Amino acid sequence: MKQLVTGGAGFIGANYIHYILEARADARVVCLDALTYAGNYKTLASALGSGRLSFVKGDIRDAALVDELFRGDSFDAVLNFAAESHVDRSIDDPGLFLDTNILGVRTLMDACRKYGTGRFHQVSTDEVYGDLPLDRPDMRFTEATPLRASSPYSASKASADLLALAYHRTYGLPVTISRCSNNYGPYQFPEKLIPLMIINAVGGKSLPVYGKGENVRDWVHVNDHSRAIDAIVTRGRPGEVYNIGGGSEMANIDVVRMIIEKLGKDSGLIRHIADRPGHDKRYAVDFGKIKAELGWEPQVGFEDGLSGVIDWYLANEPWWSEIISGAYKDYYDGMYGARLAAGTGEAAGRAGLR
Ligand code: NAD
Ligand code: DAU
Repeated sequence: MKQLVTGGAGFIGANYIHYILEARADARVVCLDALTYAGNYKTLASALGSGRLSFVKGDIRDAALVDELFRGDSFDAVLNFAAESHVDRSIDDPGLFLDTNILGVRTLMDACRKYGTGRFHQVSTDEVYGDLPLDRPDMRFTEATPLRASSPYSASKASADLLALAYHRTYGLPVTISRCSNNYGPYQFPEKLIPLMIINAVGGKSLPVYGKGENVRDWVHVNDHSRAIDAIVTRGRPGEVYNIGGGSEMANIDVVRMIIEKLGKDSGLIRHIADRPGHDKRYAVDFGKIKAELGWEPQVGFEDGLSGVIDWYLANEPWWSEIISGAYKDYYDGMYGARLAAGTGEAAGRAGLR
């Protein structure tokens, strides 16, 4: 079984590659990744040593390179993880998100049409559904929930989903789509909530919580996500969308408090800062379809999973300290500097002052 995995040097793609090489002895993987700020070749080091993974540095938007890759090889499945993935960056500068997340998908699917493949799998997100109200715990996203994206990032992902389904209907391309909620796990880039809070807390730095921290996310361990994707790619029906959720809804402030507690730090580190524009209130995913059709459900509970991830960041400081000492510093100062200066401490946040 040979798979082309794009974006495999990023957080979820790399975890998927480690997972699939371990889970399937016959798996061979070619990873295509542009190594943007979020890609890290070192994350794949142990897998590259297996002899079953080869790496191509390149851009999914580069039609000539993608064509050459498909001409020289044949893939049982093509899995697209490559994307610009951070909502805050998409708010600052949408252009690259539209290019990579929509046009890159088109380039890959055109190559799949030309050379053939058993499956094109688009790794999408629950954010395409927009958000849910905080006071309606009964509501969940199903695959039939209308697309109502809020941010430039989620709008670009929703666009790609529509394009992928159009390629299935128009050209018969064997497409599947997975829409997963928030992932956590090893190798997540420190711009995202959980690694950012772990790394800042370890360093005794402020913990910047947007608004009151009441927004809710449905956390999925990345290994559960990888297992779900494998099930969809091998057994899912072409033309179908499958939701993936963790059944672990948490308010951001509670996640931050758990991290503080597990690390034995002081809650005085929490700073409530100006909110993200258009900030989605709540995500909650109904994963009944993938459970009924493919027998998948999450296996990692959030408390245990979070403890494991904290341990991983504590044990792998060289991986992340190299990242936060580079261009990340400028990103962090630009994204947080002024907001932290104007932010308030935990007591003011609880009183609803921000
Ligand atoms: P990430 O930002 O950690 O990694 C993205 C990877 O894609 C990087 O290795 C980067 O170098 C590569 N890449 C970016 N642009 C590229 C291009 N033009 N050509 C080739 N490679 C390129 O992202 P992630 O968190 O691992 O997310 C992976 C996928 O899963 C994305 O499609 C994202 O939308 C989706 N997703 C993420 C989450 C989450 O919680 N992180 C949840 C659901 C879905
Ligand atoms: O739901 C799936 C999506 O989850 C993926 O499609 C995205 O690629 C992924 O980045 C993630 O999006 P979020 O915006 O939910 O993740 P993020 O880690 O950026 O933020 C999680 C929550 O924490 C969100 O409500 C904003 C808040 N937050 C985030 C950061 C980085 C803070 O309060 N402070 C922060 O510093």
